[in-house]
Amino acid sequence: MSNYASLRQEYKKHQLSEQNALVDPLAQFEVWFHEASESGVLEPNAFTLATVGENGTPSARVLLLKGVDSGGFVFYTNYKSDKAKDIKQFPVGAMVFLWLELERQVRISGPISKVSREESEAYFHTRPRESQIGAWVSPQSQVITSRAVIEENLAAMQEKFKDTEVIPLPENWGGYRLMPVEIEFWQGRPNRLHDRLLYSEHEDGGWAIERLAP
Ligand SMILES: Cc1cc2nc3c(=O)[nH]c(=O)nc-3n(C[C@H](O)[C@H](O)[C@H](O)COP(=O)(O)O)c2cc1C
Repeated sequence: MSNYASLRQEYKKHQLSEQNALVDPLAQFEVWFHEASESGVLEPNAFTLATVGENGTPSARVLLLKGVDSGGFVFYTNYKSDKAKDIKQFPVGAMVFLWLELERQVRISGPISKVSREESEAYFHTRPRESQIGAWVSPQSQVITSRAVIEENLAAMQEKFKDTEVIPLPENWGGYRLMPVEIEFWQGRPNRLHDRLLYSEHEDGGWAIERLAP
């Protein structure tokens, strides 16, 4: 068995206090996201999304965040994937961003809903042409017999769309928006005594901020 017990990193780069945290957690997220981007984090928009499936079985995978607005956190995927089946049955999720270079974690949870087809359409057409065709190619999360299935689908779709200027948005592809109900900002501190500030949404739309024990 491998032993990782001797791996030990002290976190001492930053602090997070009630005094320097912004009142609006989405604004606070934007500040940390910007700092992560500026710090050379590879794919700062990568996050883990946890969903709940049949019989309460949890499932988690990494996705890319494509936008944040007053409605929430937007990502794109296949509407027939396993995660989409989970979301259909239990329209809730939890996201985790890890920005190790800054010794920071952000946890976000809340209800998830599909974005409008117009919004998906607008985003879809900003993707490179090959990625747009790619969305037609893969039956995401299904078992396939070999890599050849994907290569053959790709060749067939490239042929199908060879004279098509604007690739249409597939029915089974689009965005979701997670509307935050709770957002926790975690800042690593020395001796494992980290800073944790939890924002919880009030009924009136404002946010309460509480400090959690590390
Ligand atoms: C860095 C990274 C970024 C990813 N981004 C996405 C994404 O934005 N959308 C997506 O559907 N899958 C993305 N994936 C693939 C997912 O992790 C996952 O394999 C896929 O969505 C199928 O998940 P599911 O079977 O749970 O539905 C990404 C994977 C990695 C490692």
